[in-house]
Amino acid sequence: MKLLAKTAAITGGTSGIGLAIAKEFLAEGAKVAVFGKSQKSSDTAKKELDNNNALIMVGDVTKLHDLDKIYETFCSQYGNLDILVVNAGIFKPSPLLLTDEKSFQEIMDTNLKGAFFSVQRALPFLNNNGSIILIASTSTKQGCVDFSVYNASKAALISLTQSFAAELLQRHIRVNSISPGFIRTPLQDKVGITEEMIIQVESSIPMKRCGKPNEIAKAAVFLASNDSSYMTGADLLIDGGLINISPPF
Ligand code: NAI
Repeated sequence: MKLLAKTAAITGGTSGIGLAIAKEFLAEGAKVAVFGKSQKSSDTAKKELDNNNALIMVGDVTKLHDLDKIYETFCSQYGNLDILVVNAGIFKPSPLLLTDEKSFQEIMDTNLKGAFFSVQRALPFLNNNGSIILIASTSTKQGCVDFSVYNASKAALISLTQSFAAELLQRHIRVNSISPGFIRTPLQDKVGITEEMIIQVESSIPMKRCGKPNEIAKAAVFLASNDSSYMTGADLLIDGGLINISPPF
């Protein structure tokens, strides 16, 4: 087991990629805590995760008070943190002409401010030699219509990864990011992406399929464990060849 006796917190770990990471970490022997924004998502996680081994909470990454409460609860149950996965995020369109300030703020608050403070508030509870993983996106590598704010929020996470890695070198805390391509999760349903659209998307991916949450979770185990001991400030692209292979394929 690669994470035996390690403790891990996963923001947005109640659904999709975060939930798959929680399952994989548990299978590798870690003590795991997850939280999501809504009671509903926490209830889903309770059905999927063994309650005896996982701490499942409700909390909003945009609220610093919630983050403090979550980390305090975590530490009172499990002791200090070894691994933090900054995964909570929302995916919403933001057409240039139509996006208002409120909508801009909501995406940036969740994806960027939430990520920054998820790390900052965890620091007093993080063990030296720990590992922080930020979930970015392949959307940082190419422009596309209607998602400029989401894409910018995720591009900022690549930059945070590099700067945090520099700031935490002294404590031997490694900081890396993962950039997933198209991964089938409830995220697509939330923005009304249909099965037909998914088939179209799949035809544009060199491997001709979307990724599975578990394929991101395996990479998170690698970054969380000693197997990646010489990696910090790096971004791991997991996208079925989407960014690096051009047609024909
Ligand atoms: P999802 O919608 O299934 O899960 C999102 C999770 O974030 C949920 O647990 C939700 O409760 C939580 N969350 C949202 N706002 C929150 C807040 N304010 N406070 C606390 N928790 C909050 O989405 P999925 O697909 O699992 O996405 C996870 C991460 O991966 C996101 O950051 C997303 O941007 C990123 N990503 C996803 C891709 C995909 O194709 N599914 C591709 C690239 C990146």
